[in-house]
Amino acid sequence: MPDILLRGGRVIDPARNVDAGADVLLQNGKVAAVEARLAPPSGTKVIEVENLWVVPGLIDMHTHLREPGQEYKESIETGTAAAAAGGFTAVCAMPNTVPPNDTRAVTELIVRRAREVGVVRVYPIGCITQGQKGESLAEMGDLQEAGCVAVSDDGKCVMNSEVMRRALEYARGLGLPVIQHAEDTSLSANGPAHEGAATTRIGLRGQPAAAESAMVARDLELVALTGARYHVAHASCAETVRLVREVKRRGLPVTAEVTPHHLMLTDEACVGYDTNTRVHPPLRSQEDVAAMRAALADGTIDAVATDHAPHSPVEKDVEFEQAAPGMIGLETALALCLELVAAGILSPAVLVTRMSAAPAKILGLPGGTLAPGTAADVTVIDPRAAWTCDPSRLRSRSRNTPFAGRAMRGRGVMTIVAGSIVFAEEGRVG
Ligand code: DOR
Ligand code: ZN
Repeated sequence: MPDILLRGGRVIDPARNVDAGADVLLQNGKVAAVEARLAPPSGTKVIEVENLWVVPGLIDMHTHLREPGQEYKESIETGTAAAAAGGFTAVCAMPNTVPPNDTRAVTELIVRRAREVGVVRVYPIGCITQGQKGESLAEMGDLQEAGCVAVSDDGKCVMNSEVMRRALEYARGLGLPVIQHAEDTSLSANGPAHEGAATTRIGLRGQPAAAESAMVARDLELVALTGARYHVAHASCAETVRLVREVKRRGLPVTAEVTPHHLMLTDEACVGYDTNTRVHPPLRSQEDVAAMRAALADGTIDAVATDHAPHSPVEKDVEFEQAAPGMIGLETALALCLELVAAGILSPAVLVTRMSAAPAKILGLPGGTLAPGTAADVTVIDPRAAWTCDPSRLRSRSRNTPFAGRAMRGRGVMTIVAGSIVFAEEGRVG
C-alpha cells in the first residue's frame, strides 16, 4: 500500500477544532501530517480532493451484519462493503444474530470473519442477557475480553427491572456501555406503526411514543441508582429527548443516538403500506421528527447511527403487520444527513461530530479524529454530488430501503481504512 497525499481538500476535524483547506498525508497506515501545503515524499500517491471534504472515518455504532446465521440477508463481507460505500470506516455489529452473540465463541467468530473478509473495521456488541431472553445475564467479562465494545439486547428490550439493574451494575464494573432498545413491549404490543393520526386513518395498529419514553424513564432511574454508562439506541420521540436532556443536565453518564430515518421520515411514509417503512421504533409524528432534529443539533442526541437492518423479500413481501421491522441504511445515511446540513440544521462540523467523533467517544473506539499519529481512517465526501437512490445498485445483500428513487445530494467518494483505499467512486483514483 503506497503512502497517500490527499491534496487540496477541506479538512473537517471537529475533535481538534479544524475546518480549513489542508493537505493530509497518510504514511504507513497512519495520519502523518495535516498542513496547509505538503510536498509529497517520493513514492507517495497524490490524490486531488479539491472541493471535497476530508473527514475522520465515519463510524456506525448500530449495524446489523446478520452473520452468523442469516447470511441470506447480509454477511460481514457484504455489510462491510456497504459500509465502505457509504463512507463508514468502522461499524459496530449488533448481537441479534443466529445464534445471538452472547458468548465468547460467537464474538471470536465475528472478529475472525471480519479480519478475513471485512472491508472496514468491525466492533462486536455482545448481548446483555443469554439468548436475549431478558432473564440471565450473559458473561459480559468474557464478551469484553473477546472484543465486544458494549452490550445490548437490541431488537429486544430488557423488560425486567431487576435484570436491568444487575446488568448495569455488572457492566459498570467492566466499564462497558449498556445500549438499550427502549421499548415497553406491554405498551407497544408489537404495533407495526406509530400510534397517531396516520395509522388511525389507514387502519394500522399503532404503538404509542410512550412505549419508548416510559422505558427510558425507568432506565434513567436505574442509571441514577447504579452509575453505569447507558446509551439509548434509536431514540425516536420528543419525550425521550426531554428525558435525556434533563438527565444530562444532572450529569448522569447517558448518551443517545438517532437514525437517519427518524430524522427524515414521519408516520405519513407508512400510508402506502410500503413494508420498507416498517421499523422499530416506528416512524413518528412531525413533532417528534422536529424534536429529534433539534436535539441532534444541540447535542442532546450525541450520535447518528444507521440501525442498518437488512431483510430479504421473504420477510418484506408480505402484509405490513407481518413484515419484519427494519430498513437498510449504510449507503444512504450520509446523504440524508447532508440534507440537514443543506437545510442549515447542522453545520458540517456538527455532522462530522455526530457521525464520527461522538460514536468513537461513546464506545471508547480509536478514530473520530485526523490527529497525526492516529490510524489513517478517512472519509472523502463530495457534498454536491447528485445521485438517485437505486436499490439495485447498493452493495448490501438486501434491498429494503424506503428511499428508493429519492434524489440525493452528497456522498462519500472515497473511504480509507488504515491507509488503504477500501472504496473509491469510479474515476476518483488513477
Ligand atoms: O427495526 C428494527 N430492526 N429494529 C430493531 O431494533 C432490530 C432490527 C433488526 O434486527 O431487524
Ligand atoms: Zn433496536
